[in-house]
Amino acid sequence: MRIDIFTLFPEMFEGPLNKSIVGRAQEKGLVEIAIHNLRDWAKDSYKTVDDKPFGGGAGMILKVDVIDVAISKIKNQKSKIILLDAGGKTFNQPMAQKLSKEKHLILIAGHYEGVDHRVHEHIADEVISIGDYVLTGGELPAMVVTDTIVRLIPGVIEEESLKEESHSKKGYLEYPQYTRPEEYKGWKVPEVLLSGNHAEIEKWRRQN
Ligand SMILES: C[S@@+](CC[C@H](N)C(=O)[O-])C[C@H]1O[C@@H](n2cnc3c(N)ncnc32)[C@H](O)[C@@H]1O
Repeated sequence: MRIDIFTLFPEMFEGPLNKSIVGRAQEKGLVEIAIHNLRDWAKDSYKTVDDKPFGGGAGMILKVDVIDVAISKIKNQKSKIILLDAGGKTFNQPMAQKLSKEKHLILIAGHYEGVDHRVHEHIADEVISIGDYVLTGGELPAMVVTDTIVRLIPGVIEEESLKEESHSKKGYLEYPQYTRPEEYKGWKVPEVLLSGNHAEIEKWRRQN
């Protein structure tokens, strides 16, 4: 899979997506992630990427023409274009599972007051929110969506780890997990997990 992320703040992505599991997935060639600065596609010498909203109001709106030209350069027939927006469909595990099967994702991170609505209407295939709150920009949401999707790509983490994970089935949360020591400050691990009785452990895990 390839993921292209368009942002006004590429430096925000330095680190998080290059470390740990997502970093290793890139090293193994299971995913290729590229970060693009939207400003590179600004048309004027001032590198203008935003403008005041028609009708008045606070803040600046990212321009549809800049975003369109930027994306046209790399999209192909298999690309799925996703706009990160607080008004979008709330992101969840089934959406991540579906998106992890795509060949090419393009993520657009908005900023300031938001993005010209024609991006929703004519460019994006999906509009995704990571929750019912407002962040300063779409950079953290793009990282959240990327991280969630990448760990589901076959080969990135062990199949076994994904099998009984929280949200892998509707209404399902993973059972509580413990490790050594068996007792710490009087806080004990549930007896059944130390019993070696696999049927009982399985039953306890299902209940919990
Ligand atoms: C300050 S927000 C704009 C908020 C917008 N004026 C509104 O009321 O919905 C700037 C950018 O952050 C991103 N953003 C903010 N909250 C988000 C969320 N919950 N999920 C996804 N993206 C979000 C979007 O890309 C948005 O264009």
